[in-house]
Amino acid sequence: MEGRQYETDEWMNTPSSILSAVSRRLHLQPDHPLAITRQLIESRFPGYKSHKDLFPIVTVDQNFDSLGFPEDHPGRSRTDTYYLNKDTVLRTHTSAHQAETFTANQSDGYLITADVYRRDAIDRSHYPVFHQMEGARTWDRNKFDRKYNTLTEQIMADIAKIPKHDIDVSDPNPTIHPERNPLQATHSAEEVEAMATHLKRSLEDVVVTILSAAASAASKTGSPQSSASLAQEPLKVRWVEAYFPFTSPSWELEVFWQGDWLEVLGSGIVQQPILNKAGVGSRSGWAFGLGLERIAMLLYSIPDIRLFWSTDPRFLSQFSASSPISQFIPFSKYPACFKDVSFWIKSSSSAAGGLSGQGATAQHFHENDVMEIAREVAGDLVEDVRLVDEFVHPATGRKSLCYRTNYRSLERTLTNEETNRLHNQFTQQLVAKLGVELR
Ligand code: DAH
Repeated sequence: MEGRQYETDEWMNTPSSILSAVSRRLHLQPDHPLAITRQLIESRFPGYKSHKDLFPIVTVDQNFDSLGFPEDHPGRSRTDTYYLNKDTVLRTHTSAHQAETFTANQSDGYLITADVYRRDAIDRSHYPVFHQMEGARTWDRNKFDRKYNTLTEQIMADIAKIPKHDIDVSDPNPTIHPERNPLQATHSAEEVEAMATHLKRSLEDVVVTILSAAASAASKTGSPQSSASLAQEPLKVRWVEAYFPFTSPSWELEVFWQGDWLEVLGSGIVQQPILNKAGVGSRSGWAFGLGLERIAMLLYSIPDIRLFWSTDPRFLSQFSASSPISQFIPFSKYPACFKDVSFWIKSSSSAAGGLSGQGATAQHFHENDVMEIAREVAGDLVEDVRLVDEFVHPATGRKSLCYRTNYRSLERTLTNEETNRLHNQFTQQLVAKLGVELR
């Protein structure tokens, strides 16, 4: 990979189609909507050091252990994560670089933008490669401005520098809750109240400035979808309690979007052991991680996540860093083609596993393996794959599943022969790789 050598072993589950995404670096392509979104967010964090080219292949230690993920966390499984070998993965989140960035200790605040990789569902908002931005702000309790008596006073002074907004943000929960969102033993409640306020005001500033600018652009241009987009309603955002292994207390920020609350970021007070191990134990602070595609889809009304990977000039030419706030005018939609496949799943007593089960132990059927096969066969010609029926035979106890695949290109009309061929390959591979029995 790009001049680096990795020895694979029986943990390897990364197809070449995924490895080939490593070189795309969409968040660095000039005028790409993800790059513009990155720049818009970066502009709201003056003074934060920005890292944009950290290599995506990391150790299990970086991705999970250093962040305090428990041994049995589902994120570690080969159904969810792309492995090259037992100790090496494609990073599943930008948090994989927290420990090393804290160790380097180059600035009080930093941002990391990068491609991340997850085995996941296929639909219009999920793609196995996407982009995250991570940010953190820490304060050194031995080195704050001597004008202030306490770290809390320093943080309060920093809060006063964050631009104000006039959006009503709902935040009904207490900052600290002994069971649901505990304080770490190493922190005082006042400090955490101050850090939490700094975190929340900073991230509200990002969401409010970017999404209100997009809403006002949409209402001015009266773009075709503006009735379904941001322009229609006043921006509504809320904080909810969350859990992450690497923060406590933790919160998510949600935006009200087309009738639903949409999660846009996770955040919290950094677990002190992470900073201690990084050799900066006198520092404490907050971190967040957000999905760039999600923000860009809201910002530009982009209807399908596959579009970010398009090289079609009808897509790319609509975005320009010199006028970052615009609305995407979708090209007409090509026809959908739905095809079903029904099968009995193999009983889990058999040792011959599927994609994720080529090792010695028996593995259960996992939906992500179905998704991976669809992606390998049809690539970006598959729009979504959905479980539409599930049935357990009353006498034998065998389980049958029916998946509906929507084949649709973003760029042209697919022919019947083409979709039939894709679907045949898909069903054959399900049998060959997962050992299912077609019905
Ligand atoms: N890494 C998390 C994810 O991928 C996002 C996240 C949550 C990052 C909280 C953070 C954080 O830095 O503090 O879901």
